[in-house]
Amino acid sequence: MSKSILKLSVNGRSVEVAVEHYHTLASVLRNELSLTGTKVGCDMGTCGCCTVHIDGKAKLSCLTLALECQGANVRTIEALNENEMHPLQRAFAECGGSQCGYCTPGFIMKSSELLERNPDPTRDEIKEALAGNLCRCTGYMKIYDAVEQAAGELRKKEAPQPMPVKA
Ligand code: FES
Ligand code: FES
Repeated sequence: MSKSILKLSVNGRSVEVAVEHYHTLASVLRNELSLTGTKVGCDMGTCGCCTVHIDGKAKLSCLTLALECQGANVRTIEALNENEMHPLQRAFAECGGSQCGYCTPGFIMKSSELLERNPDPTRDEIKEALAGNLCRCTGYMKIYDAVEQAAGELRKKEAPQPMPVKA
């Protein structure tokens, strides 16, 4: 079968790539665009490792056909923050929320979507948002701690700064 041309934006860059109709977004990101930060743990929609943002929503790239992303804006872990670590990445490292690390990109992409729509989630809201992501190393509590820590840091950053007092 002949390939089709897929045009989309990946991490803010326009990309054109020839894909088969059965190629998933995960395979195109990893194999054609060398964006291997997106992991594939199961390739069947059960682990959450392959989570990326498609038009601002967290989606499983192993269940998304590449051609469904025609014209879409895709963001991967490589572009979560420009030039420096995202507070989530720092918090996962500091809290021990990343051990072998294989699940971490998926958790971070899912968590960042949560914090974009709900900057002050409760523990239960964090658990619910991350329920589709699996981790075999951490026991999950350190991951929830990391999301809470990053949420606090992001809220502080967003808070209006006090006006400087004139002498
Ligand atoms: Fe996509 Fe597991 S690799 S959900
Ligand atoms: Fe190893 Fe989550 S840190 S699977």
